[in-house]
Amino acid sequence: MASLLSSSSSTISRLTLLRKPSLHYSIKTLQKFHGHRKLSKLILPFLRASTNYVPFSSRPKAQTANSFGQDEELVVLGIETSCDDTAAAVVRSSGEILSQVVSSQAELLVRYGGVAPKMAEEAHSLVIDQVVQEALDKANVTEEDLSAVAVTIGPGLSLCLRVGVRKARKLAGAYALPIVGVHHMEAHALVARLVEKQLQFPFMALLVSGGHNLLILAHDLGHYIQLGTTIDDAIGEAYDKTAKWLGLDMRKSGGPAVEELAREGDENSIGFKVPMKQHKDCNFSYAGLKTQVGLAIESKNIDASIPIASASSEDRRARADIAASFQRVAVLHLEDKCERAIEWALKIEPCIKYLVVSGGVASNQYVRSRLNKIVEKKGLQLVCPPPSLCTDNGVMIAWTGIEHFRMGRYDPPPAACEPEDALLDLRPRWPLGEEYAEGKSEARSLKTARLHPSLTSLIQASIQQQP
Ligand code: KG4
Ligand code: ZN
Repeated sequence: MASLLSSSSSTISRLTLLRKPSLHYSIKTLQKFHGHRKLSKLILPFLRASTNYVPFSSRPKAQTANSFGQDEELVVLGIETSCDDTAAAVVRSSGEILSQVVSSQAELLVRYGGVAPKMAEEAHSLVIDQVVQEALDKANVTEEDLSAVAVTIGPGLSLCLRVGVRKARKLAGAYALPIVGVHHMEAHALVARLVEKQLQFPFMALLVSGGHNLLILAHDLGHYIQLGTTIDDAIGEAYDKTAKWLGLDMRKSGGPAVEELAREGDENSIGFKVPMKQHKDCNFSYAGLKTQVGLAIESKNIDASIPIASASSEDRRARADIAASFQRVAVLHLEDKCERAIEWALKIEPCIKYLVVSGGVASNQYVRSRLNKIVEKKGLQLVCPPPSLCTDNGVMIAWTGIEHFRMGRYDPPPAACEPEDALLDLRPRWPLGEEYAEGKSEARSLKTARLHPSLTSLIQASIQQQP
């Protein structure tokens, strides 16, 4: 890896799975840092859940992550700063959400028309202490009550990730807490297991956000196959640009504004072309649709500098028609690819019952209802977390931390006084799983520079290393 961020040189060695006998190793490490009270609180539930540890890959299914409620007492703080929201939450391993705090950078988004990394970093730095403190206060817990801290380490903007990781390590160092580095997109998928306790592996997930469009088959915790991804832009980006060019109020981000305006429009008024119809794969492309929207806006002489609130009724109608037509085609593209992905996934894992739809765009009611039809047609069930858990949040990070912690995948507490300039393990470009070989499309252009090995390959490699 050319990247400076390789795990060997990092201070978070997340997913260097604990060597066998891992449980004893982890207890020993923790004993160095924990007083008796804390140790027993932290370890006993875990011991109950994990004695007779066997390598992850060889565990019988019932003992793996599909088991719930073995360790009721875990209380985990989750911290998320990968993009434009500063979020923290405290969650119990029973699935009880004790608190959830999100500070959004909506004003900055409006001013800069998108996420400007340096501004976003400053905004995170300004509020991170307050957001974490509020999450602890609202949960009515102190740092002493926590079992671990989970934090997003990628993918995302490294300047932003750094703020959350620094905070997590400072807190974990000061209170001798283990730390779990979390994959942001995995967290979007796994939060569905907090919501729907019946959701067992294997399952499928469509993850739709501002930067990602992923179709995955989740075999098991940390073991994912990527059936499809975007070859250029993600659907959330297309929603955001459409909102900006239509002069909509971006304070709640572009997606909700387009969804709202689309309700007034005629979705068949403009015949945008559905992307990638000719590609018999599960990949996505939204750059072309963005261009089509831009051209339609130009041809109708819509002036984005006139806010929608001040537009004439005729102008408003034209904008609503574009919003509705865009949304119809953007979602048709999701439908096409989901339908094919379900067919592929059922060939690989015929027992799949659920398709999870998560990520910011999954909070859209039109998206949910259209995808529900496809999923039902294919004999599966849709699981869609509530909107507050679809958009970026700390709960999904805490929950994913809990899932990995239960498997013994965490790092021991960092040093109490880690230097400010310590080299951190941040993974701005971090694939979730391996690409499904049959799904590789000619249109796919994987940009490999500074790409971290996927979460799946890291976990598989660690399992193989265990004697
Ligand atoms: O998952 P998320 O909160 O952050 C990222 O990881 O990117 O997703 C944010 C994206 C934004 O592009 C936003 O416009 C979109 O999700 N979004 C929506 C809706 N709510 C948020 N898109 C369409 N309809 C919505 N209701
Ligand atoms: Zn996200």
